[in-house]
Order: sequence, then structure tokens, then C-alpha cells
Amino acid sequence: MKSTEHWLVHEHTQFEALMREGLDAAKIADWWAIEQFYIKLVESLRYHIAQEEEVLFPAYEKNCESSHMSTLALYNEHSVMVDFFRKLKKFIDSRLLDDTCDCIEALELLLIEHNKKEEDTFLPFASRLLFDDRDILQLQLQNFVVTNKSRHWGIELTEK
Ligand SMILES: [Fe+2]
Ligand SMILES: [Fe+2]
Repeated sequence: MKSTEHWLVHEHTQFEALMREGLDAAKIADWWAIEQFYIKLVESLRYHIAQEEEVLFPAYEKNCESSHMSTLALYNEHSVMVDFFRKLKKFIDSRLLDDTCDCIEALELLLIEHNKKEEDTFLPFASRLLFDDRDILQLQLQNFVVTNKSRHWGIELTEK
């Protein structure tokens, strides 16, 4: 989608589909699939959140006025999700099935609500506000690389 209205395309639906896969795997105690889901989701969300926090939100903050929507709530929701991911890793590593299921369910709700807030309010507004910088921002988002300066998740991912 590259229309004038919504040029800030996000992969939100892909993350929500992954959460479903994780929950399905947890319901049948398929620990291999749960671990694969976890690695995939953390890797892709770490990238997505860093893109938002290092490219999109700063560009927005530079252009918005004090009366406009603040990005603080979105940053805070990212922090809450990262905490849940840390907790989920402990549950998965300890093979605690009920806690794993509950944590994936809670994360799914958080993620859906967060994505909805971005899609319904932040992204349409930012798409209009940053329209003149569209080409440069799209390039920055495409070429974005996570570095040591990015938010520290404190999660070690190991393929098994
Ligand atoms: Fe976000
Ligand atoms: Fe997002």
C-alpha cells in the first residue's frame, strides 16, 4: 500500500498471525514449535519496534506540535511488551505450559491493542504530517539496521 493516505506500511497483521501460531502450538504442548514461534516473533518485533523508535517516532516528534498526539504511550506499551517477552522466555525455558499459554494470550491482547492504536490514530496522522519527507523516511525504514544503540531487550535467542 503506497497511497497518499497510508504510506507508513506496517507488518502488524503478520505479527498477529504469528501469535495465533504460538498459541496453537502451546495448546498442544509442542515445545519445538513454541520455541520457533518465540524466536521468529522476537526477531521480527525487535526490528519493527526499533524502526518505530529510531526512525518513525523521532521524525514525528520533530514535526508535531505540543497539542498533537504524543508517542509516549506507544513507547511505554513497547516496554510492557518487552517485559512480557522476558517473562515468556522463562516460562518456555522452564516448560511451564499453563504459564506459557497465559502469557502468549496476554501478549496477543497487548499486541492487538497496541497495533490498533497505531493503525487507528498514530499512523494515519503521522502519514499526513510526514508526507513531505515520505521518500527519505521510506528509504530509512527499508535500510534500517538494529544496532547496540537500539532498545535493549535482554533476551538471548538460541536456535535449538
Ligand atoms: Fe509499536
Ligand atoms: Fe507498529
